Amino acid sequence: MNKKTIIAMALATAAAVPASAGPKTVFPTLDGKAPLVIAHRGASGYMPDHTLEGYAKAIELGADFIEPDLVATKDGVLIARHEPNLKDTTDVAKRPEFASRKRKMMVDGNEEEGWFASDFTLAEIKTLRAIQPRGDRSKAFDGQFQVPTFEEVLALREAKSKELGRQIGVYPETKHPTYHQQLGLALEQPLVALLKQYKLNRKDAPVFIQSFEAANLKQLRKLTANKLVYLLDANDVRPDGSIDANVPYDHVVAGDKRTYADMLTPAGLKEIKSFADGIGPWKPYLISWQAMVDPKTGKAADVDGDKVVDQRDMTLIEPSDVVKNAHKLGLVVHPYTFRNEAKHLAANFQDSPLEEYRAYFELGVDGVFTDYTDTALAARRLLQK
Ligand code: G3P
Ligand code: CA
Repeated sequence: MNKKTIIAMALATAAAVPASAGPKTVFPTLDGKAPLVIAHRGASGYMPDHTLEGYAKAIELGADFIEPDLVATKDGVLIARHEPNLKDTTDVAKRPEFASRKRKMMVDGNEEEGWFASDFTLAEIKTLRAIQPRGDRSKAFDGQFQVPTFEEVLALREAKSKELGRQIGVYPETKHPTYHQQLGLALEQPLVALLKQYKLNRKDAPVFIQSFEAANLKQLRKLTANKLVYLLDANDVRPDGSIDANVPYDHVVAGDKRTYADMLTPAGLKEIKSFADGIGPWKPYLISWQAMVDPKTGKAADVDGDKVVDQRDMTLIEPSDVVKNAHKLGLVVHPYTFRNEAKHLAANFQDSPLEEYRAYFELGVDGVFTDYTDTALAARRLLQK
């Protein structure tokens, strides 16, 4: 079977992508406005994650929000990193002066080895330089940029908002909040204090605080009026399109057996509404995908014959009711993560990221976390015309 035939079959069998958006100027979002473009980790498609230069680039590309993930240093300063472990996103492994800091640590019940932010002062972290963690993206900027503090991100946001005459939003994530609390480096108070310092501590500020832990959002609800978003993760998508959902770490600690999928049922959403303003689900919770099973291995087959099993071998299935049910409760829906690379795009999209955005925009999502701000904006403009 050649690739063209396979794609044609995928398009014929998958009913997931709605054929038409209806009136093209109206997005079926909660407020009827265009969905937000959230610059995931900065301009992460083009530059190393979480640097001031990357956030500035995302703003230049037109992002509505920039998205810093937050972890704490040994001296309790919030810095923008996706992981407490610095091994993949900085040059720490090449610094002989820090060789002795390498160690094993438990992060949310999993053992990791590397160099952890909580073992370094901010002054030490400032000597490191950011690197590109993905092998398929440009390493041209490796070694050039520092790890920013959250305060520096807020200062950049304020300066760029003034310079450009538009309010750029900030979408901080508390990374591993229970882990940080167990280390005595809780993220919540410094986060709230910094938002207050930058006069962003109000419900209508251009801010969403996000977390994968409901317990953390409940704590934050008591500390701030800012809008809160509950992130929902999963282990994987099974070949039949069902979601292999995991149990949130705060649930594990509390002995609560409910998975993220349980939190997306109507009852789960109702509970989320009691402590958050929106949800940030992994994309397949909204539109999932199926694999063709290889009878020899029992696993997903390499349908397009390129010797790799990736997203291009998957076909979309009917969308779930999650957006509809969340909107009924007044919750916004911001799925993650949208990426341009063909290997991340289901066969239905025929290597076009614009088509992927179109499917989710037409479903009614209120925002998208994207590594490519410019592509998300191009897709949004196509529906606005
Ligand atoms: O923050 C939204 C989404 O990106 C969550 O995933 O792991 O990139 O923080 P992560
Ligand atoms: Ca393949």
